[in-house]
Formats: sequence, structure tokens, C-alpha cells
Amino acid sequence: MPVSATAATTATDAATDAAVCAPLPVLGRDVLVPLVTGGEVEYAALDIAASAPALQRVWDDVAAYAPYYGSVHRGAGYLSQLSTDLFENSRAAVAGFLGCREGDQVVFTRSTTDSLNLLAAVLPADTRVFVFETEHHASLLPWEQRADVEVTYLDAPRTPRQAVDTLERALAEREPYRNALVCVTGASNVTGELWPVRELAAAAHAHGARIVLDAAQLAPHHPVDIAELDVDWAAFSGHKLYAPFGAGVLAGRADWLQAAEPYLAGGGASRTVARRADGGVDVDWHTTAARHEAGSPNVIGVYAIAAACKALTEAGFESLVAREQRLVERVRAGLAEVPEVTVLSLFGDDAPRVGVLSFVVEGWNSSHFAAALSAEYGIGVRDGLFCAHPLVRTLLGAASEAPGACGAPEGAPGERSLNAIRVSFGAGTPDEHVDRFVQAVKELVTQGARWSYRTEDGRCVPDTAA
Ligand code: ALA
Repeated sequence: MPVSATAATTATDAATDAAVCAPLPVLGRDVLVPLVTGGEVEYAALDIAASAPALQRVWDDVAAYAPYYGSVHRGAGYLSQLSTDLFENSRAAVAGFLGCREGDQVVFTRSTTDSLNLLAAVLPADTRVFVFETEHHASLLPWEQRADVEVTYLDAPRTPRQAVDTLERALAEREPYRNALVCVTGASNVTGELWPVRELAAAAHAHGARIVLDAAQLAPHHPVDIAELDVDWAAFSGHKLYAPFGAGVLAGRADWLQAAEPYLAGGGASRTVARRADGGVDVDWHTTAARHEAGSPNVIGVYAIAAACKALTEAGFESLVAREQRLVERVRAGLAEVPEVTVLSLFGDDAPRVGVLSFVVEGWNSSHFAAALSAEYGIGVRDGLFCAHPLVRTLLGAASEAPGACGAPEGAPGERSLNAIRVSFGAGTPDEHVDRFVQAVKELVTQGARWSYRTEDGRCVPDTAA
């Protein structure tokens, strides 16, 4: 690789020799689903890039805590105090998991999307934002919500080196500016490819810009170290980190967070509120993370994230990475034996990637193919444009006629594919699931579907009247 890519790449390299562990226990491993052709099969959850099943350990920790649940930061009772301690200890655990620096803040949000919208809301006036068109919509769209922020969209790079060069050129062209922010993903939610985060951070900082890492698809697969990567912020979601209880994280530099108006106004964010002589209200807002956490916090969601961070760390991330890389190689080798399959890639076949791969199958509409994987093999994948429309259209070479709605693929069986199919797996995925997937792809391509399908509300579904 011309560029040494991210710390994650380093972890991938290091993992080559690491001991391979067993899959981590997750909920839903023994769920049986019906097949349209008859009988039942164990569900193969190969859409974890969308939402990962809860780790058993997370579920157990949440269940153990649930009877002690109480309000946070606002109760005199024993359980309120216990819950407050647990909430703040969770914040410390997440800070440790992310390698936060002294003075960094960890703000709990609802999701990565929420975290990046929070960061957009706290940008100083007239900040210039630089973002690649290849980003997930959560990283692509929040910035334009600010009328006083200028966004520069960068063309899709075809190598990690080109990504750094493109950013450097754009930053240089747009100088001078008082404040600038670069937003980049750590691992693509479409191709799984790792981005050269450390190099992009160095380029941003060399031009006086800051950088936020969208770690939604990186954190579940690799250690993320804010200090080591030298990014200013990182964001991720609990529901992709095996903690599906509705919480997310924005962690990083405190200054812009402290200087901005609270993201939500309300209790918890305010220290004191008093009527003024002129009849108005004076508010003294917190300067800690609480400033942006108004309302009763999602203590269960936050505790679940901390439990997931601990579980992944204690399992040994290097072993998890090593195992996942073996699964990646198995899937890639299997798909390579099917000439009709094209795996989508921005940086080339050999680019390091996590367990996320998108592909198209010649002669198949992707929605049809995904429906057949589900109905005939009990395999759950995602099809569509994956909330990264510009990227998938670039990779497909498709025009803007492609379907627009997120998660709403179109096209009848047999029509030309304007969408892709995505398979994703990780710490909880057993080998059998990826082997079944590869075998199913081969059978569908060589033998065709055994059932007929029709389009209903934009989705391909088995024709049960057949
Ligand atoms: N961001 C999630 C995905 O890529 C929903 O599927």
C-alpha cells in the first residue's frame, strides 16, 4: 500500500499472527426462520453493518443492572446514586475504549447520525467543512444544515494516497479560513475498505483543520484510538457495537462543545435557571458533557455500550480481528470463484477491509438476489444503496436514475441492477454462516432461484401465491 492507512490496518497486519478466537456469543444464534421452500433453518445474521445482535455479555450485564435502574444525576435515592455512578463509570469506560486524551469529552447521543449532527450544531460560525462524496449520509449531510458553514464535497479517490492528496489540495485551495473540519469514515459501510485516517488527520492538522472520524463501521471491527490516530473527534453507534439499546457516542475535543449553545435545551444541561428582573430567564449551562445531554439520559443504552467495550477488549481485539480477516478471505475466495459476481471496491481488490462486502451479480436484480438468500437459505443481507447513494452510484457506474429512498430498493426480478447486495459479519458470526452464504451464492448463480418472486412496495418478496 502506498499509504500505511489507519491504525486499523496496522491491527489487521498484526492480527495475521494473532491467535484466532471462537465467535463471541450473541443473541439470536439459535433463532430458526422458515424457508419458502419448506422447513426451517438457523438464521444467518449477515447484515451486522446495519445493526448487530446484542452480545450475550451485554444482555447479561443489562439484565443484572435492570432491577437497580434509577434516574441519573437527579435523585437522592440509593438507586439513583448507583445509576449515576454506573452512568459516569460507563463514560470513563468508553473514554478508555477510544483512547481519549486528557481533557477530551465523551458525550452520549442516540447514534452516529446524532453525534455528527451534534458536532455540526457546535461548529464555530463560518467553519469550512471538507467531506468525501463517498461518505455515509450520516457523515455527508449534517453540515449543510448550518447556513453559515461552507461544505466542500471531495470526489471519490481511487487509492488511499489519492484520498490524502485530494484533501491536501482542497484544504490548500480553500485557505485562509479560521476554522475547518474534515469528516471521514474509518471503514466504509459499503465496501468495508479502511481509510487512511492517520494520514488524513496529519494532512488536516498541517493545514490548521480539525478532523472527525466516523467510526460507526470501524469500532465494531478494530480498536479505535483517538490519541494514536490523532483525530479530534470520533463517533460511533451502540447498535452496531452489539449494544442495541439506542445510545451513541461523540468523543473528543471539549472546546467547541463547551463554547456552543446546548444541542437540546432542558433539564440536565442547565446548572441554574433564574428569572431576570426584565421578566426573561437567565440560564447557566453546564460546560461538561452534560451540556449536550439534556433530558433524562439513556442509562441502559449507555451501560450497554460500556459493557460491549469491555467485552470486546477482554475477548482480545487482535484475536477478533484475526478471526474476522479469515472470514473476509473465505468470502472473497468464494465469491472469486463465481465469474458473475463483481465485488465493489474503491481502492482495489487488495485493499484492507473489515467484514463488510458489497457486490452485484450479473443478470440479477440485487433485490431479487437478496430476497432469494433470505427466503431460500435463511440468510439476512441488505440490498440497496446503503445510505451512501453517491458512493454506490460511483461504484456501480449508475446514473442518478437509481432509486432514491434509503432502504427502499426498486426493480422487478430480472431487471438490470441499480442496487448492490451487502454481506457483513464480525465478532459473533460463526464460520457456518459465511460458508452457507458462499454456497448459496454459487447455487443461485448456477441453478437459479427455486421460487418465484414479485415486487411489493418496492421490495422483492417471494410470491406465495406461486
Ligand atoms: N448505516 C447502516 C448501514 O450501512 C444503517 O446499513
